[in-house]
Amino acid sequence: MVTEIAKAKLNLALHVRARRPDGYHELETLFAFVADGDVVQVEPSEADSFTITGPFGALLSGEGDNLVTRAASAFRERFGGGAHAITLDKRLPVASGIGGGSADAAATLRALGVLHGVAVDEMFDIADRLGSDVPACLFGRSAIGRGRGEQLEPVAGLPGMPVLLVNPGVGVSTAEVFRRWDGVDRGPLPVDPRAGRNDLEPPARAIAPVIDDVLEALAASQGAGLVRMSGSGATCFALFEDVASRDAAVEALAGRGWWMLASYLT
Ligand code: C5P
Repeated sequence: MVTEIAKAKLNLALHVRARRPDGYHELETLFAFVADGDVVQVEPSEADSFTITGPFGALLSGEGDNLVTRAASAFRERFGGGAHAITLDKRLPVASGIGGGSADAAATLRALGVLHGVAVDEMFDIADRLGSDVPACLFGRSAIGRGRGEQLEPVAGLPGMPVLLVNPGVGVSTAEVFRRWDGVDRGPLPVDPRAGRNDLEPPARAIAPVIDDVLEALAASQGAGLVRMSGSGATCFALFEDVASRDAAVEALAGRGWWMLASYLT
């Protein structure tokens, strides 16, 4: 049995540069990863099975359209390896801008790679076909993403930086948020992510105004540095200068009914 953590993905900045003829958008984004996430367990088995557990498991179906089973099918088509029993412990909210299904798919590929001696480097083309964020999640370390987000350039991250993720409990459709982007190119990714933006914040806030409340509450937290929405939302994050101020923010925000994850960047 191989266990892989599907680390939550953050976009420390996300600049949308153009709409593409293929319906996707040209991005420049700074990916970072959080130490915690969903947990994927894979073991060889007589027959394929897929079990979903965890606090957010009930929101998913085990049917064929799940990215985990699609990743496993794509792996087998390419590398063989037989049948597997796969368990997904869904600890992170779904459709929430922090990787979710993409991270689960990448963790599944990594686990299958360990079981069958396939290096991560050999699986990027499969990852690319599974979704725009899957290559970044397969890489699993800080990187700048260009193109759809799949062209990766490794960068030094902020390992150990305390982070708080907050989701107000509304699922937001990535496709709809991109569709509502106003088409204005506001310029490239700066070297310092604090000078950057998430261009998907305005369209996501129009769909889910509660994102404003989350961003405001995080910005008002003592010791919070960078405060931003991740991906297409609705999860927002704050980076903190120390663990004590992060944990104080958790206490201050408790009682608002929001999902929170106190963790650190890897
Ligand atoms: O690649 P993935 O299937 O995860 O993307 C989900 C949706 O998000 C796409 O169908 C598209 O509408 C939107 N998207 C986009 N531009 C990107 C990535 C995603 O428009 N670079």
